[in-house]
Amino acid sequence: MSVDIEGITQGLEEELKSVGDNASLEALRIKYLGRKGSLSEILSHLADLPLEQRPVVGKRANELKQRLLAFIKEKEAEFNSGLQQGAKFDITLPGTAYEIGQRHPLTQIMDEICAIFSHLGFKIVESPEIETEFNNFTALNIPLEHPSRDVFDTFYLETPMNTDRSGRLTQIKSAGKLLLRSHTSPGQIRVMKQYQPPLAVVVPGKVYRPDAVDASHSFMFHQVEGFLVNKEVKFSDLKGVLTYFCQELFGKDIRMRFRPHFFPFTEPSAEVDISCIICKGKGCSVCGRKGWLEILGSGMIHPNVFKAVGYPKDKYTGFAFGLGIERIAMLKYGINDIRLFFENDLRFLKQF
Ligand code: PHE
Repeated sequence: MSVDIEGITQGLEEELKSVGDNASLEALRIKYLGRKGSLSEILSHLADLPLEQRPVVGKRANELKQRLLAFIKEKEAEFNSGLQQGAKFDITLPGTAYEIGQRHPLTQIMDEICAIFSHLGFKIVESPEIETEFNNFTALNIPLEHPSRDVFDTFYLETPMNTDRSGRLTQIKSAGKLLLRSHTSPGQIRVMKQYQPPLAVVVPGKVYRPDAVDASHSFMFHQVEGFLVNKEVKFSDLKGVLTYFCQELFGKDIRMRFRPHFFPFTEPSAEVDISCIICKGKGCSVCGRKGWLEILGSGMIHPNVFKAVGYPKDKYTGFAFGLGIERIAMLKYGINDIRLFFENDLRFLKQF
């Protein structure tokens, strides 16, 4: 008898490559190491070999057996761990948890406010953040000498730009100075220039003022503007709409007061206070012991504003109001630092 140990070695090496699962591994084991397996046969019949072949074949056959046993052990571990041959990952590893996102607290409040007005029939309109000096000031009856027109109170832009109908920025020569809007009131001008009354519109968005940043100031914050224009709109309509709004947002037992105020684009004008939502009007540190919190500016649209947008004299009346979103969110959630909204710290944002 003679044994082709080299041939067996080569055949085995080839077969190892095609083992892909437990079944083919077991078949291989039986073929070589089973009771009638080729390696078992050789090892049990070494004595039948010519004397000079015995040590060589015995040694090689044992090496092959060890190699095969090690291979089987390794593959078994692999197959039973879930790391399948050809697979790119171990299916038994714990998965990666993806966190479910949520809207920013300011977006939530803006959406909530818009939904309340939308329920009353107001349309929601977005207006550009880059404005002309005309829309931001002149058309709103804000005189040249008004401090808010000062470079210290407004971000002016160097290149005259505007957005065309598709939202692209284009250079314009004749528009005068351009700036980042300092309030959402120019939204009134844009809508009124384009549409005729009756109008009931809210304009949510960002506004910019070059204030030094601290716990209660930010160079960018959010407002929601609202206005309604028709024939014979009265101050009592403004009161009714704002009362409904405050009760929806803060709860039915909220109390309100209208304080006379001045805005160039409304006459008469009023600031609206609500009873403090923390102390219910008793006086606390949030309301500065006053029991009241100022939440918005409002009034009847000034005739000069109607004139600026080309409405006929004395035909329409209307009211307008503007409220700061950060302030409302801070009051509603008891937040004492405006910077928290803009730092993108998930420990803060996850709470809402
Ligand atoms: N635009 C005013 C502001 O930013 C708010 C306002 C809007 C007041 C509409 C009256 C009417 O302070």
